[in-house]
Amino acid sequence: MLDRVKGPHDALAELQVFRETLRTHVAEVTKEIVLRDKMNQKAVETLCARIDLVVRDYSGFLRRLNTLRGAEEAEAQDRDAVVDLRREWGIAHARTNLFQVELNQWSLMKALVAKQVASRKKRVPLYEARPSGLGVAQSSASDDVFDWVHAILNPESQSDDAFQSGCFPDIALPNSRFHEHLHAGYRVVLAQGRTQPMRFLDVGCGGGLKVLSARRYFTRSEGLDYQDSYVDTARSLLERAKADDAKAFQADALTFDGYGDYDVIYFYRPIRDDQKLVEMEQRIVELVRPGTVLIAPYVGFEARFAGLGCGRVAGSVYLAKTSQKDADRWRRKAEQTGVAVVHAEDERVATIWTPLLEASRNSGYDVERFKPLI
Ligand SMILES: C[S@@+](CC[C@H](N)C(=O)[O-])C[C@H]1O[C@@H](n2cnc3c(N)ncnc32)[C@H](O)[C@@H]1O
Repeated sequence: MLDRVKGPHDALAELQVFRETLRTHVAEVTKEIVLRDKMNQKAVETLCARIDLVVRDYSGFLRRLNTLRGAEEAEAQDRDAVVDLRREWGIAHARTNLFQVELNQWSLMKALVAKQVASRKKRVPLYEARPSGLGVAQSSASDDVFDWVHAILNPESQSDDAFQSGCFPDIALPNSRFHEHLHAGYRVVLAQGRTQPMRFLDVGCGGGLKVLSARRYFTRSEGLDYQDSYVDTARSLLERAKADDAKAFQADALTFDGYGDYDVIYFYRPIRDDQKLVEMEQRIVELVRPGTVLIAPYVGFEARFAGLGCGRVAGSVYLAKTSQKDADRWRRKAEQTGVAVVHAEDERVATIWTPLLEASRNSGYDVERFKPLI
């Protein structure tokens, strides 16, 4: 292969061949892993072995290329000739080395693929059947701390108007319960393939802590509240958190007409008055798109969801305008996703692995991250 390389131009052409070969293999392995439980293990293993080979061959190519360049420099007549050579090779040298940096990530990607192969026939329930005593004790302590923080962040008391209108004040659902439901809802959205962008709405967001928390899962996170002073508090929180992808706004859940814009809608019994609460539930279900994920962690909804035309996926996660049979089907599909909650990250430069990484993330799998030392 290197015999063909006589100079930087040939090196760049060779780099292109490696890149294209690898791109094809990555596309093929990506096509397999998106099949989840239906992926062909043998095909994935064969493709991984081919990628192993490309990575190994490329290291050899780069080594020999550097040797060739070294030899050329050694033969140079003087310092100026060395400088000319380096200038000539500059771009090829940078690009070929940069590709090696990309290839160094293969071990991480290979582990990511292996994890999906190993889990392809397994189902992880949306909720933990028997949470461990240790976990429960830790979550309960953490929930208390969150309640303190919640009270500090929203010191506003309920307005007379909100009280007269039948609203509940800003009473927080325990943080750990919220994350259990959100995680389950997130996996359902992944199973549905509704990945980008995912829009979340908290109906009755109070001081906005849940809107802020939902950013960890969804691309856009929004909250509405009846009470102006709560909305101001929520806005200030989101502003201080520099949460450009989140917003809070004033609206009455009983008249709001934008429910159809969201993929996941969370409502934790905002309204005290039973009749109005049912009205709100009917309005939400009527306006949303079929299959919208509803998270409603309170007893009344548990009793009413079927009559409202929703199916229960699991726990407090429901699907609007969906039969129970279909909701059960979505639960099984969601249980086949991984459990990683992908970190929203700043736009990164695409690499050769981007299609594989994105597809894995859309299935609930992510690369192991290096843990910082401190
Ligand atoms: C029980 S708290 C829920 C707070 C937060 N969503 C949580 O889960 O921690 C209910 C919130 O709903 C708001 N709310 C009550 N009725 C409402 C209505 N008709 N429209 C909009 N918000 C309402 C209240 O002001 C309050 O902030």
